[in-house]
Order: sequence, then structure tokens, then C-alpha cells
Amino acid sequence: MEKEITIAIDGWSSCGKSTLAKALAKELNYVYVDSGAMYRGVTLYAKRKGLISEDGVDERAIIDELSNIDLSFSNNENGVAELSLNGENVENQIRSIEVSNVVSAVAKIKEVRQFLVKQQRKMGNNGGVVMDGRDIGSVVFPNAELKLFVTADPEIRAQRRFDELQAKGDNVSLEEVKANLKLRDEMDASREESPLIQTEDAVVLDNSNLTPKQQLEKSLLLVEERK
Ligand code: DC
Repeated sequence: MEKEITIAIDGWSSCGKSTLAKALAKELNYVYVDSGAMYRGVTLYAKRKGLISEDGVDERAIIDELSNIDLSFSNNENGVAELSLNGENVENQIRSIEVSNVVSAVAKIKEVRQFLVKQQRKMGNNGGVVMDGRDIGSVVFPNAELKLFVTADPEIRAQRRFDELQAKGDNVSLEEVKANLKLRDEMDASREESPLIQTEDAVVLDNSNLTPKQQLEKSLLLVEERK
């Protein structure tokens, strides 16, 4: 039987990580885990509880609530994993700009990261997994057989995310999307707890001028080398 490897995909916000991760998982028949969705799930919960307001993020209260947060993934009718928060499918709500605007402030809380990393490791400890995020190759799976660091031109990333939100009927401006990506990139790369870094053993994949199919093909070649 072919060896099932662990694939860690990290990179900047909206650079096509999840498109690639989903396609790889489908092609290889691996489990796909969107770790960003989990940070978004905690953020949505905290927003609903009023723990995030104009005044800021009540870190202590969020930490105290963690034991009441149950996150799970289940496949929709197209076989795409969607997040449930305490049994409710919240896939749409977690992608809103309101959640995007505050998720990095929640993701920098050490206890939130510990809570989620533990679950992420459990989901992938047998190999045969593709996980995308910011700290997958550096913290969650430092021994992953394949680490990809995905990047793309910031203008292209903003346009892609804008198109995605528009298609979903989310009425947001391109400028707002650009500002959100810039802020998140800065916060994710400069935070104290497991910041976004490119590990030495990661392969950089700039997909600015690649179609999803081309980036999948390039990645599959790398997978084959590591099996
Ligand atoms: O991948 P995404 O844009 O859906 O992630 C949402 C936020 O969660 C992102 O701004 C940073 C944070 N995140 C993180 O800190 N670590 C991860 N492994 C995944 C996401």
C-alpha cells in the first residue's frame, strides 16, 4: 500500500491555500482540515456571546468559555467539509467580513491556540491529511512530509477574496477587503504565539500566475516525491 503522508499548507490570507488543500485531499483521498475555520468558529462564538465589541476583545472571558465550544467538520452534499459550532452549521457566518475583521485578534490568544492545536493534531495524527493554516508546518505538524508555503501578489489575493464574497452576496468593497487582508497578514506574522513563518523545509508556491489546476499539478509532483 502507498504511504499516506501529512501535508502542511501555510501562507498569507486569501492566497489560495484552501483551494489547493481541498483539491489535494480530493485527489489523494485524504482528510482535509481547514484550521482557519476553527479560529473563525471560536471568533463567531465569542462575538455571539458579546465578548468582542467596539471596546476590544475580552481575552479572559473567551479563555473561560473554551470548554463550552465544540467544533466539528462534516461533509456537505458535494463532499466539502463544513464547520459546525455546537452542532450548528456555521460555514457561511464564519466567512463574513465581521468575523474576518476580528479573527486575528482571537487567534493571537495563547490558550485559544493550545485548545485548537490539540484538536488539529488529533485529526491528523495518522497521516493521510492535508491541513492549511498559518502554523501547520511550524507548530501543528513540524514533521509533516510535505510543507508548502503558498503566496500570491496582494492585489490578486484581494481581488480573489472580493469576487468570492460578491458571489455569496456579501456587500463589501474591494478597499475593505484589501485593508482586512493587510491587517490580518501583519497581525498573523507579528504575533508572539506561533506567528506565520516560512519554515526552512517548506517549498514556496507563488500562485499569482497559476490556475488552480496548475498549482494542484505542481503540488502533486511534490507529493509523489515524498511518498
Ligand atoms: O485561513 P483563514 O483566513 O480562514 O484564517 C483565519 C484567521 O485565523 C487568520 O487571519 C489567522 C488565523 N489562523 C491562525 O492563526 N492559525 C491557523 N493555523 C489558521 C488560521
